[in-house]
This record gives sequence, C-alpha cells and structure tokens, in this order.
Amino acid sequence: MAELKYLSGFGNECASEDPRCPGALPEGQNNPQVCPYNLYAEQLSGSAFTCPRSTNKRSWLYRILPSVSHKPFESIDQGHVTHNWDEVDPDPNQLRWKPFEIPKASQRKVDFVSGLHTLCGAGDIRSNNGLAVHIFLCNTSMGNRCFYNSDGDFLIVPQQGKLLIYTEFGKMLVQPNEICVIQRGMRFSIDVFEETRGYILEVYGVHFELPDLGPIGANGLANPRDFLIPVAWYEDRQVPSGYTVINKYQGKLFAAKQGISPFNVVAWHGNYTPYKYNLENFMVINSVAFDHADPSIFTVLTAKSVRPGVAIADFVIFPPRWGVADKTFRPPYYHRNCMSEFMGLIKGHYEAKAGGFLPGGGSLHSPMTPHGPDADCFEKASRAKLAPERVADGTMAFMFESSLSMAVTKWGLKTSNCLDENYYKCWEPLKSHFTPDSRNPAGPD
Ligand SMILES: [Fe+2]
Repeated sequence: MAELKYLSGFGNECASEDPRCPGALPEGQNNPQVCPYNLYAEQLSGSAFTCPRSTNKRSWLYRILPSVSHKPFESIDQGHVTHNWDEVDPDPNQLRWKPFEIPKASQRKVDFVSGLHTLCGAGDIRSNNGLAVHIFLCNTSMGNRCFYNSDGDFLIVPQQGKLLIYTEFGKMLVQPNEICVIQRGMRFSIDVFEETRGYILEVYGVHFELPDLGPIGANGLANPRDFLIPVAWYEDRQVPSGYTVINKYQGKLFAAKQGISPFNVVAWHGNYTPYKYNLENFMVINSVAFDHADPSIFTVLTAKSVRPGVAIADFVIFPPRWGVADKTFRPPYYHRNCMSEFMGLIKGHYEAKAGGFLPGGGSLHSPMTPHGPDADCFEKASRAKLAPERVADGTMAFMFESSLSMAVTKWGLKTSNCLDENYYKCWEPLKSHFTPDSRNPAGPD
C-alpha cells in the first residue's frame, strides 16, 4: 500500500484536490453555475448554520454525482446495534469483560458494520443528547458497502488489526494505538486485513473538541498539529450490481442501493472532516511532587454537554510515563465517581490490575460504584520504594468517561458471553491494616 498523505491541524479550515484534477476547487466561490470538471457541489453541514464561528462546521464537496443519487432506504437486520437502554434490568455492579471474541473468517464473514455490537449507552438520539459504546468484531472488508451515521460521531479505537478507511474526504490508515473520528453524516467503508477488533465511542449530536488547557497554557496534552486529515481521493467506479449505502438513523439500520461508488469526491474544502491521531503523540502531564492529578489531565478529546465543565463523554488515555511522586500511593486511588467509566485496553497491562483486565476486553464502573486497585496492587504499592519509575511502558489503556449513567445491553451482559463473573473477587482479599494504637504507618520494606 502506497503511503497515504494527510493534511494536519485539529479543526483546521482545509482544502484538497485529487492531483488527477488540478483546479477542481472553484475559485472565490462555493457554487459556480458550472463547477470545474463539471462536478456537482454539495455542502455537508456539521453544525447549525448559525453556530458561532468557533463551533461552526461545514465542508463543501465537489463530486461526480451528488449523494442524493440513490434508491430509497429500507430497514435491514439490526444485528447487535441498539439504542434500547431498557433491554435488561440495571446492574450497579463493577463489570468486567474478557476479550470480546472475534468471529473466524472461515466460519462466518463479518464486516465492520455487521460486526458492530452495542455494549452500553445512555441518553436519547432524537434529542441529540447521549452516547453509546460499541465493540466491533470483524474479519472481512466492507467491499461495495459504506456506512454513515445520522445520529452522531464515531470515535474509533482499533485494538487488533489495522483499518484502511475510505471516506468521502480521502483515505486514512488507522492502526492500533491510533484513533480516528468520523463525524456525523460522513460516508466511509473499512478494509480489514485480519481478524479485527476495537472500541467505538459514539456521541449524539455533539462533536469532539480538544479540552481547554487552563493554567497548563498553550501547549500540551493532545497538540492540534498532530491530528491528521485525509487528502481528496476519488474513484469513478460504476457498480452495476449496486453499491449499498448503510445508514444508522434514529438508532436503526437502513440500506439503499446506488449505481456508483460514494467515494467520488474530486475536491473538497472546509473544517468538517474525518481525522486521526496517534496516541504516542500525547504530551503527558502529571504530578512531579506528591499526590495525584485528577485523571482529567489525560483527556485527549471531549464532547461537551451544555453544562459548563461537564462532558457527554471524554476520551482519556493512560500512556507510558514516569511516576515520580514522593510519599504517595502511586496507583489510581480508591474512589467513587458521579460519572460512568468504561475502560478498555489496547495493549499491555493496566497498572492497577495486573491480571484479568486484558487487551480487547473492558470494564464499566457506574456512577457511585466503588472501585480501585486490587488487593495485590494495594499491598505492593503501599510498600514500594518510591524511586522514579517508568509506568505503563508497552501499554495503552483508555477510558470513555460520561456524565450520563450508562445502561448495559443484553449483548453486553449475556449474549457476548464475555462478562467476567469473578471480577468482584479481586477486591475480596483486601484486609484491614488499622492499628488503633499506633499512628505511624509502616514504611517501605
Ligand atoms: Fe475510576
């Protein structure tokens, strides 16, 4: 595969032409009476027309045929995609899943869309307020099928197997330890090369932003220049048997046929695009004296709610870094949180739980459900000598954190058959160390 080119800069106003058609972008206007190369002009709006400039998003696409050239949409099998948050009774327990099983290609061919499984979520699609966590498990490329989401944005976290993503804006290669965001309405088709697995954070009706940095200043965390945007690429390909466009609309799947590949955009300009980001580029900030900074210091992207400081969902990572805090219990502390915390693991092992939480699995700690290090981790970290040490080398854990109280689907609790019934046992060996007659804690061994 020839190396793909990208533009850069989070949310930038970009312009791109397929090099086979120089000058395909109209000069000085969006809607010429006749577009260069006799293309059609089409606007894709990602925000209300009247949003302030800082949040106004749209792109202009110059394409061989407009997107409207398709037969009517019809309902199709929903598979394991759902937005029904009442399928099973609520469960406040700490939940952990073993790695979700990927179907074998020799037994059943599954592509990205037929391999979507909704694990948990909350909120309401029709009022543009909520989120869903999906797991994708697939082994086959989408071929003459593309997908677009009318409900919200997909933040895609591949965990096993790379994704070659064709979009209306061009092609992106997204490998494990990279993420991509495909925003509402953008059509895409995914090629895979092996048994492939990953996580998706879907947010309804809002877009991801870089978090504000406050006293951190102008630089740090995920830097805007590291976000990559595809360059225009088109194919003028007729598909006599019909190209299938799959749409998730109000939580349900629909399909329509058209006679031409949807990746027929010769040139585009605008600030509403798909993008990708390599998690290795995250500039980690952390405590260099004592105690912990709150984990919000690890936020890559946030989808804000209308309440100041409160997110529909944050995407947070726990990258390799130095641990140097003196006189401090260094692993994550025990806590109860008003937020829902879904965690996944791309590779390696997570510092607070050496076993049981595995790459390709996950955990959910719901609002006010207590959690923290397992007993073994507590005992070791309470006695450890506090030299500077590398933390999480070779590892990448992440969290989808939401202010909404997420419900788990029937697939998550039952059908997936991956729920770890023994999770609670990792805290059972915790014992009291209380010494009522002696205030002085025991020091390191
Ligand atoms: Fe937590």
